[in-house]
Amino acid sequence: MSLASLALPFLRLLDPERAHHATLLGLKSGFGPCGAKDPQSLGVDLFGMHFPNPLGIAAGFDKNGEVPDAMLRLGFGFAEVGTSTPRAQAGNPRPRIFRLDAEQAVINRLGFNNQGHAPLKARLERRQKRKCGGVVGVNLGANKDTVDKAADYVTGIECFEGLASYFTINVSSPNTPGLRGLQNRDELSDLLGRVLSARQGTTPVLLKIAPDLVPEEREDIAAVVLESGIDGLIVSNTTITREGLVSGPHAAETGGLSGKPLMALATEVLADMYRLTKGQVPLIGVGGVASGDDAYKKIRSGASLVQLYSALTFGGPDLVSAIKRDLAAALQRDGFVNVSDAVGADIPLG
Ligand SMILES: Cc1cc2nc3c(=O)[nH]c(=O)nc-3n(C[C@H](O)[C@H](O)[C@H](O)COP(=O)(O)O)c2cc1C
Repeated sequence: MSLASLALPFLRLLDPERAHHATLLGLKSGFGPCGAKDPQSLGVDLFGMHFPNPLGIAAGFDKNGEVPDAMLRLGFGFAEVGTSTPRAQAGNPRPRIFRLDAEQAVINRLGFNNQGHAPLKARLERRQKRKCGGVVGVNLGANKDTVDKAADYVTGIECFEGLASYFTINVSSPNTPGLRGLQNRDELSDLLGRVLSARQGTTPVLLKIAPDLVPEEREDIAAVVLESGIDGLIVSNTTITREGLVSGPHAAETGGLSGKPLMALATEVLADMYRLTKGQVPLIGVGGVASGDDAYKKIRSGASLVQLYSALTFGGPDLVSAIKRDLAAALQRDGFVNVSDAVGADIPLG
């Protein structure tokens, strides 16, 4: 067990938001384990980039880009920073993060609390000067009080192009009123058109969607994604459903639910999007991953890459190497040479 994992029981005594700040502080001071070199079978070549392994830290953990390199050192194959909005905003009143220990789940209604584009840009410029390398994506959002929400994503593309390994267009946070409406066919088509026209180069643009979509909404999104020519989809953000929750003290809190109870729903939507886009659009599977088996299930359901967040809260940083070890073993057991060979193995494309 690493020193950082030993801190976990103490962090769990704190209120979740304080525990998160303490974790970021620890990571900034270099207090975190270093991952070993990844086996070749875990390497993924996608979007013209090399990922040493398919496991990324999902958006929301490092909203202001303070610790992407610590996360890569810890063993993640890539890091996604943000969500970043053009202007700093405080988010919703506290408390706004709730740990559901019995279900290994989290409910959050942070509401895009972040420092805004400028400080994130300065940090990314510094790491670029230091030639840090590694894949670091930037997740973009809109300020709560912006009327033309699409304009905020365009501002994000203009601000971070050349600094981000990829962009995530996050239209799926349940905690910014009206945001999820951008997933509707016409609005999405307009948004992606504007975002792609703003992009000068070839930085990949991915769309992050909610798991709470009825079949017609999923079909509409798939159609717009194929028409627009964006580079990939991230499936999914947190859910507003409360499936699989026994009524604990926090089960009724408003916000997005993540962690174990999200795994089945997010994986079902992932598989559906793989089918609907006919395996032609790279997918990142996220939602409820807490083990090598979960990561493998996402890959077999169509994910080329996988992300997690909530499981770190319960499993600590040693979880990253455990997931990679078990994933590599599962690939070998089933005769797959590498991750890409197993993508969509469970989903027949008729
Ligand atoms: C506390 C918290 C904050 C989050 N903030 C963001 C965010 O700013 N942007 C975003 O796209 N997703 C955010 N997410 C969602 C995660 O990126 C991820 O999609 C979701 O939690 C499901 O993965 P998990 O079950 O592994 O946590 C957040 C999740 C949590 C728990």
